[in-house]
Amino acid sequence: MEIIDTFFNNCYLRLCFLLLNTNMGLLISNIRGLIQVEDDPRDMVCGKDMAQLNIISDAYLFIENGIIADFGAMSDLNKPDKSRLKIKEEINASGKFVFPSFCDSHTHLVFAGSRETEFTDKIKGLSYEDIAKRGGGILNSAKKLHDTSENELFEQSIVRINEIIRMGTGAVEIKSGYGLNLQDELKMLRVIRRIKEISPVEVKATFLGAHAVPEIYKNNRKEYVDLIISEMIPVIASEQLADYIDVFCDYGFFTPEDTGRILMAGIKYGLTGKIHANELEYSGGVQAGIKYNALSVDHLERTGDAEIEILKGTGTMPTLLPGSAFFLGLPDPPARKMIEAGLPVALASDYNPGSSPSGNMKLVMSLGCIRLKMLPEEVINAVTINSAYAMGLSETHGSIARGKVANVFITMEIPSYEFMPYAFGSNLIETVILKGKIV
Ligand code: NIG
Ligand code: FE
Repeated sequence: MEIIDTFFNNCYLRLCFLLLNTNMGLLISNIRGLIQVEDDPRDMVCGKDMAQLNIISDAYLFIENGIIADFGAMSDLNKPDKSRLKIKEEINASGKFVFPSFCDSHTHLVFAGSRETEFTDKIKGLSYEDIAKRGGGILNSAKKLHDTSENELFEQSIVRINEIIRMGTGAVEIKSGYGLNLQDELKMLRVIRRIKEISPVEVKATFLGAHAVPEIYKNNRKEYVDLIISEMIPVIASEQLADYIDVFCDYGFFTPEDTGRILMAGIKYGLTGKIHANELEYSGGVQAGIKYNALSVDHLERTGDAEIEILKGTGTMPTLLPGSAFFLGLPDPPARKMIEAGLPVALASDYNPGSSPSGNMKLVMSLGCIRLKMLPEEVINAVTINSAYAMGLSETHGSIARGKVANVFITMEIPSYEFMPYAFGSNLIETVILKGKIV
């Protein structure tokens, strides 16, 4: 009898616990502006539509079980059908804006140490290619990574993850590519997997074995490409360590032919391409990416009419990285021409030690406005829904829509949403909510 009693008591307690957890949520009320709301979620925003942004003024947002459950105008909150919202916690966001978290679809934030000595070399006049030729650049980071244990690499990387979370990023793509041999590439990808497991931020992993040609293959690039195809991809795929595959298709690095071979090998293992293209030269990278249905082609500092034309009507997201163009003093990619041609544009940070030592997506928005002449509405679309698409997440992230993951941030009291890219040096993010929880 006692056993049966205990059994029923346990069941009752568990039921209460479940009800408490499933029916009670977080209400954010009196929001000055709820940004990027969607009743019919889209997978991306193109051309002229990029200048449109759906906003609800004086709004509420209700989050339940880590998911966006409801939103609307405050005046609707007291309607009878809203009385069923079981509110456990309330944040009064009076005077503040709520944005969907940034999606940063291109980073290399797992790296060892830093490269500020090259920063000084650049100030003195050396170019990115000059530094790479001297064994600096990516090869320098590869050496540092080789000498760093997996644990230490994880510790260094998690600091950067926590930093970008505080700056409003809720989903991040992270590339390997400072390993350049199987063991060190695996080390990087395992660190990315650990981040995926323990951090509230959403993570996608990209295998970038073809980031640079290692010293020992200096005169035999083809052999290194063969190694990537025959050894690295099969092991990485069998351990399910990557979601995507990348190639640095550019002058002095990998050719469109190498890129095609690697992307084709990736496709066989279910890895879609996301490639580095046209940063240093008109490399043919955009064409190679489109030929193999890459999800995104990134950088695009050298983009002409031919590249814009061929991107039209594809599912490949042109992704611009204004932080690295700014840091390296490269020409700015023609964002306006792309948008005027009806293309979508995504923006990402490229957080890495050589060309963009910053994962600050708010600053990326400012650079999008200041350098690329994009409107505030366009940059907001570019760092939310379009960058979510560029990492395969637009069904679940990148906007305020019912059923999407509750990744949002609340700003400080600011006069307008345009104030975000305008006040480029100020941290205006006050509260970060990931998967429905205040971080
Ligand atoms: O996206 N361009 C290639 N890769 C990185 C730079 C990496 C590095 O310099 O460490 C980029 O800019
Ligand atoms: Fe990059």
